[in-house]
Amino acid sequence: MYRYDQHDHQIIKERIAQFRDQVSRRLSNELSEDEFRILRLQNGLYMQRHAYMLRVAVPYGMLSSNQVRKFAHIARKYDRGYGHFTTRQNIQYNWINLEDTPDILEELASVEMHAIQTSGNCMRNITSDEFAGVAADEVIDPRAYAEILRQWTTFHPEFAYLPRKFKIAINGAKEDRAAIAVHDIGLTVVHNEAGEVGFKVMVGGGMGRTPILGSVIREFLPWQHVMTYLEAILRIYNQYGRRDNIYKARIKILVKAIGAEDFARQVEEEWQDIKDGPATLTEAELKRVASYFTTPDYENLPAQDAAYEQHLQDNKSFANWVKRNVKPHKVAGYAAVVLSLKKPGVPPGDASSEQMDFIADLADQYSFGELRVTHEQNLVLADVKVADLFTVWQEAKAHGLATPNIGLLTDMICCPGGDFCALANAKSIPIALDITDRFNDLDYLHDIGDIELNMSGCINACGHHHVGNIGILGVDKDGSEFYQVSIGGAQGNSAAIGKIIGPSFAAGQMPEVIDRIIQVYVRDRLENERFIDTAQRLGIAPFKEFVYATPIRTNEHHGEDAGTAVSY
Ligand code: HEM
Ligand code: SF4
Repeated sequence: MYRYDQHDHQIIKERIAQFRDQVSRRLSNELSEDEFRILRLQNGLYMQRHAYMLRVAVPYGMLSSNQVRKFAHIARKYDRGYGHFTTRQNIQYNWINLEDTPDILEELASVEMHAIQTSGNCMRNITSDEFAGVAADEVIDPRAYAEILRQWTTFHPEFAYLPRKFKIAINGAKEDRAAIAVHDIGLTVVHNEAGEVGFKVMVGGGMGRTPILGSVIREFLPWQHVMTYLEAILRIYNQYGRRDNIYKARIKILVKAIGAEDFARQVEEEWQDIKDGPATLTEAELKRVASYFTTPDYENLPAQDAAYEQHLQDNKSFANWVKRNVKPHKVAGYAAVVLSLKKPGVPPGDASSEQMDFIADLADQYSFGELRVTHEQNLVLADVKVADLFTVWQEAKAHGLATPNIGLLTDMICCPGGDFCALANAKSIPIALDITDRFNDLDYLHDIGDIELNMSGCINACGHHHVGNIGILGVDKDGSEFYQVSIGGAQGNSAAIGKIIGPSFAAGQMPEVIDRIIQVYVRDRLENERFIDTAQRLGIAPFKEFVYATPIRTNEHHGEDAGTAVSY
């Protein structure tokens, strides 16, 4: 993991002092909220429905146990005892007092963290595969490149005032776990036929009100050129991106407007001016940064462990957890463990201070003191000995972190929605909780198998509903909250945008709607066919037909009128 040097410490310290002064001027009304807005956003501080929200950057999702302990402390001392892990591998605090923020930033700086560039029209946190460096299907460890891009994009003047925010994701494995197709730039680290390392470059993906999958503009870019080539992309974007209309300002709109081919041609042309220039990456620099990602001191272990195998046979709950929450590791005798933050009754992605402290201890004891945040809003212990899995399971279970549901229906992505977010049209967390409640039978969940349910409280698509196998979008209809459902979306290697099945539903109808969709799948699936494959094979027609066939009664605890679906 990257460690700050004295310059990093100095820059962060000065930034905090500057912000402390800005906050005190706001508190004494020397600055109006309008004047202060641009200043706070540069430090990741948003104004929410009820309070300020602080978004803290977690570069490519990697954390040390000390950093997690600090998160726990901040949640306890300055918030309501919990934090919310996001799909972009960050953490957000929802109940922050303005006067506390400089102190919080100081606390963060003490563990080499900050909130800079987590907001605004600049390069945001660079995300990557949560199993980077350990994944059994990894082609090349992407983390050194992610760190180089992070250092390069932080405070880079060319990227400080882009037409709109800019998100880069980087993947180094065969399976894409970083959702690269829905990023402004998605990079895949690959080998070419000659065995050289480089990147496949995708550009112009994104969600929001105009969901678009990125287009490949270069099949192979030698690694030395990653910065100059990306700079060429950003120059074109800076020059032609729409600054007159916020809804048309993302790079995806530019790429769509001129076509990926022409966009690629312009980038190549622009690139010729800077190619081989000073920003060309050298072997020495790559090595220097890669050295921060040293391989942990793995022991020489046998691939099999007799006691573990025995536990698997004797204990069905443990076996279920292993099946869903334990992932293969490239080193024999080790495994990666996903700690589920999707316990029934808790908003997806939330972790309490007590859980965070516990997770930090668990990481120290069993995983070289390190953690990762996943794109699905869970946490990962990347280097657990197979022989320790049973103990880790028991301990995680005692703290509500071992729900065996990774990749299942209840492992949802869900944005904060109307409970917190000022932009929401509808709540999303209570819907997630109601659905989790309805599907509380683990055997049934395991039978349904892999399925991705994503939910957003408004058109901005923070919850990635467009690329959910089932997507739920909160909409406003004459002042009431309704939900639009789509099917067939996917992230990863075969990314796709889902199709809306028809008129939207009232909140209380949602668990039944999801139930009916699942019934169609269970009825029509071929043997071993995943939900997404059935949905893509059959299209939305059978789902639509069954879901709307008979009226759906509204769950009374929402207190809304019973009724059939309304159109939106
Ligand atoms: C509660 C405070 C939040 C606010 C005010 C907020 C605001 C926004 C806005 C305005 C957009 C649309 C930007 C655009 O493309 O024009 C957006 C998109 C997005 N947000 Fe949030 N958001 C919040 C929380 C979250 C959370 C908790 C997550 C992660 C779970 C998240 C992840 C995303 C993602 C991934 C997008 C991207 C869509 C894309 O790629 O185009 N946001 N958010
Ligand atoms: S999708 Fe909408 S409601 Fe949900 S967090 Fe994003 S902006 Fe807020």
